[in-house]
This record gives sequence, structure tokens and C-alpha cells, in this order.
Amino acid sequence: MIRCFAAIDLPEAVRARLSLLSQLLPLPRRLPPENFHLTLAFLGEIPEPVAEDAHLAFASIRAEPFRLALSGIGVFGGGRPRVAYAGVASEPLLDRLQAKVEEAARRAGAPVEARRFVPHVTLARFRPGEVEAPRLEHAILAVGTFSTEPFPVESFAFYRSHLGHGGAHYEELARYPLG
Ligand code: 2AM
Repeated sequence: MIRCFAAIDLPEAVRARLSLLSQLLPLPRRLPPENFHLTLAFLGEIPEPVAEDAHLAFASIRAEPFRLALSGIGVFGGGRPRVAYAGVASEPLLDRLQAKVEEAARRAGAPVEARRFVPHVTLARFRPGEVEAPRLEHAILAVGTFSTEPFPVESFAFYRSHLGHGGAHYEELARYPLG
């Protein structure tokens, strides 16, 4: 079984901005900058043949390249924060790509959750009760606006997640050019 997901990786300069942003916020267990990414579909723990079928399905996706900008800071979990993230400016071509990737993963037999796609880049994940919502909200307001210049997205990739004591390590299994 392998734990895997499809995602868009981010240019070095964008990861540096995210790293700076995450350090301005009172976040326990921040993600290391090399782990920042935009998840398109989480396939979960799947048998290797299913991952191979997903790879073939991803390789056959035809989608246009586009530009993407990060925008805003958000929290999932409301009064019980679970995740702090950087938001993504609306881009229909991203939504179209995500729908194709999710559909391809499902066709391959991966148990992809049927959740509405909220594009985001996770900065930190919390244990229950680890972070007080008002303190985090206050810090987010104090940081003010966050946005990046648009950057080109010319591929997406298939990653394997290796869980370890020091956090997850992501291994790129394959990359798929757009356009
Ligand atoms: P995230 O994008 O919100 O951080 C690898 O684990 C990636 O898959 C993470 O970036 C993670 O979410 C995403 N993901 C989605 N659902 C998940 C789940 N149930 N368990 C672990 N990761 C999940």
C-alpha cells in the first residue's frame, strides 16, 4: 500500500514568502518550506496497482497551463482550528484541472473524498485544542493582507507521502506537463 496524492508544487520564491508568512503567525509545528504544495486530490493509502492506474490516468489528462496567485490567509476548523493556510486567487483553469485529476483518481479506484475543492496551501496542522482561535485570528489580522504575484503552473505531480516522526516526507513519483 502506498499513501499518495496529486498536487501542484510552488516556485522557490513563493515557498520563501510562505515560510516568512508562517513565521509571522503563532503556529505550532509549521510545515517545512519544501513541503508546501497545493493538493489537487488525496488518494489515501492505496494498493500499488491502483496507484499505477492513477498514474496512467493522470498521464492522459489534457489541460491548459495557467497562472496562479496566492491570496489571503485562512483557517479550517472555525472555533477549533485544524489547519492554517494561504488561500489561492480564483482561477477557473485550476478548478478544471482539479476536477479532471479527481475524476481520474476515482476512475483508477482510489477512494477520493467527495468534498468541495477549496484550493489552499497548508502552513501548519494542529492537534485539537492546541491553538486558540481568537489568538490565531488576531495574529492573522495583525499580519494584514497576503498575496503573491501570479506564477506559471506548467505541470502537476504525483507524490508519495512517507510519514515519519519528524513529519511527512514527500517523494515525487511522476510529473505531468500541462498543454
Ligand atoms: P492539505 O493540502 O489540506 O494540507 C498530503 O497528505 C496532502 O494531502 C496534504 O497536503 C493534505 O491536505 C492532503 N489531504 C487531503 N485529505 C487528507 C487526509 N484525509 N489525510 C491526509 N492528507 C490529506
